[in-house]
Amino acid sequence: MKFEKEINRRKTFAIISHPDAGKTTLTEKFLLFGGAIQTAGAVKSNKIKKFATSDFMDIERQRGISVATSVMTFEYKNFLVNLLDTPGHKDFAEDTFRTLTAVDSVVLVVDSVNGVEEQTRRLMEVCRMRNTPVIVFINKMDRDGKNRFDLLEEIEMELKIELHPMTWPINSGKDFKGVYNLHEKSLLLFSPNTKASDENSIELKDLQDDLLDEKLGSHDAAQLREDVELIDGVYGQLKVEDYLQAKVAPVFFGSAINNFGVKELLDSFISIAPIPQEREASTRMVMPGEEKFSGFIFKIHANLDPRHRDRIAFVRICSGKFLRSKYYHHVRLQKDIRFNNPYSFLARSKDIIDDAYPGDVVGLFDTGNFKIGDTLTEGEDYYFLGIPSFSPEIFKELVNKDPLKTKQLEKGINQLTDEGVAQLFTQFGGNKKIIGCVGELQFEVIQYRLLEEYGAACEFRTLPFYKACWLTSNDPKKLEDFLRYKQQNSAEDKDGHPVYLAQSEWFLKTEMDNNPDIVFHFTSEINK
Ligand code: G4P
Repeated sequence: MKFEKEINRRKTFAIISHPDAGKTTLTEKFLLFGGAIQTAGAVKSNKIKKFATSDFMDIERQRGISVATSVMTFEYKNFLVNLLDTPGHKDFAEDTFRTLTAVDSVVLVVDSVNGVEEQTRRLMEVCRMRNTPVIVFINKMDRDGKNRFDLLEEIEMELKIELHPMTWPINSGKDFKGVYNLHEKSLLLFSPNTKASDENSIELKDLQDDLLDEKLGSHDAAQLREDVELIDGVYGQLKVEDYLQAKVAPVFFGSAINNFGVKELLDSFISIAPIPQEREASTRMVMPGEEKFSGFIFKIHANLDPRHRDRIAFVRICSGKFLRSKYYHHVRLQKDIRFNNPYSFLARSKDIIDDAYPGDVVGLFDTGNFKIGDTLTEGEDYYFLGIPSFSPEIFKELVNKDPLKTKQLEKGINQLTDEGVAQLFTQFGGNKKIIGCVGELQFEVIQYRLLEEYGAACEFRTLPFYKACWLTSNDPKKLEDFLRYKQQNSAEDKDGHPVYLAQSEWFLKTEMDNNPDIVFHFTSEINK
């Protein structure tokens, strides 16, 4: 393999968390360690999550910024790290889910005060579905948090994953004194705003070392000895294989804002996180080391300038070497396309690149050729699997307010849904266009963008649905009858797949019970 060295030095991952747990802060510290940014605050000031719903100009401005921060590439200890950003706002959860299809592992940030929160649970579900290896970072140890053992238990129960502590905290909040590194058997002492953690790292002969009492005081030293004995008994040694198979998640404690415990996390991540992995495609498994290039589109971003409808499609490279200006095969459209200005992403700036390798994410200028899930190859006809579409949670009818702009509205809503902003369903037996989103905010964004970018005015009428289920059946006649009979609740998605729109859990359950020959799917793989 010609580029084995390149593959072996790449780590592509995402940091995920419930909003406010500290994802942005941790991202920033990683970038500082990687030398990708020089000052704290650089990422933070770009934060997209805190905009008011009415603040559309801000969305416009932030859209450009979030392209640049979508992928952050930095080097650390000879590794090339691709950190894929995920939106914090829950209304953009689907964007996050899709980004998770493009990474090989994740770091999950949990707030030590709030423990497992709603978004944490949902994100972990996606990781579990895909068997993505997870490292947990328990943040904000400088605040009075939950009891550490209780917290671990809560995470294990709620997220249904076995944990393995790599470091262990000494107290929390005002009394937080630092963490004990269970593997290196060293003590890392906490002082707010520690610059380089090495300075505060103390090697111990063993836990009986008097130095421990000297540094922590006899009470905390005794408590630590007791805790560690318990932990060693329960958890033993981490088997990296178990982590790579997503059976066990190593856990680190720290405080991102104080840059405490972050280096330990990053060092461990570099040493154990998976390099680019094989991927399942429709006809076979695709290995990263294959000679021929392949990749898939997991994200599409509207360009900053609304007068030009160019978009940036983000391709995750799965195999081979990507070369600038070489023709590649767009499998869905069955046509060959080349890219003269592919971008790579260094934090906050875009650079045109000549080549890229498996694990890398490249930004391609797109004039409407791509939709999420599209596969590019060097000619072979297969498409990558596992890019799911989840059921929206809010459904509204799209109502055209300007009949003279019908065409623009059609085009706009098609392009926006190709970008994955929302899902579009068309009611059977009618032409009613139903937009499904995860959050209210997205409807406002759609309305705004349709008007600004396409000149089409629209409004939304609330519909009484709560879930979309994709339907399949071995008996086409039964499916057809069901769709006809349930016309008010039936629609097709953009790819023509039949969908049942349920008003409530009760209706859904009743239909499932009454129609045993029809399978109700809660996610649809876009490519299937
Ligand atoms: P997010 O991206 O996951 O939404 O979280 P973010 O990093 O923005 O952090 C959310 C808040 O938590 C921020 O405070 C941040 O400063 C704070 N924070 C992050 N890590 C720690 C930590 O280790 N300890 C403590 N005590 N706080 C932490 P904010 O007031 O919302 O924002 P800002 O005013 O600081 O920008």
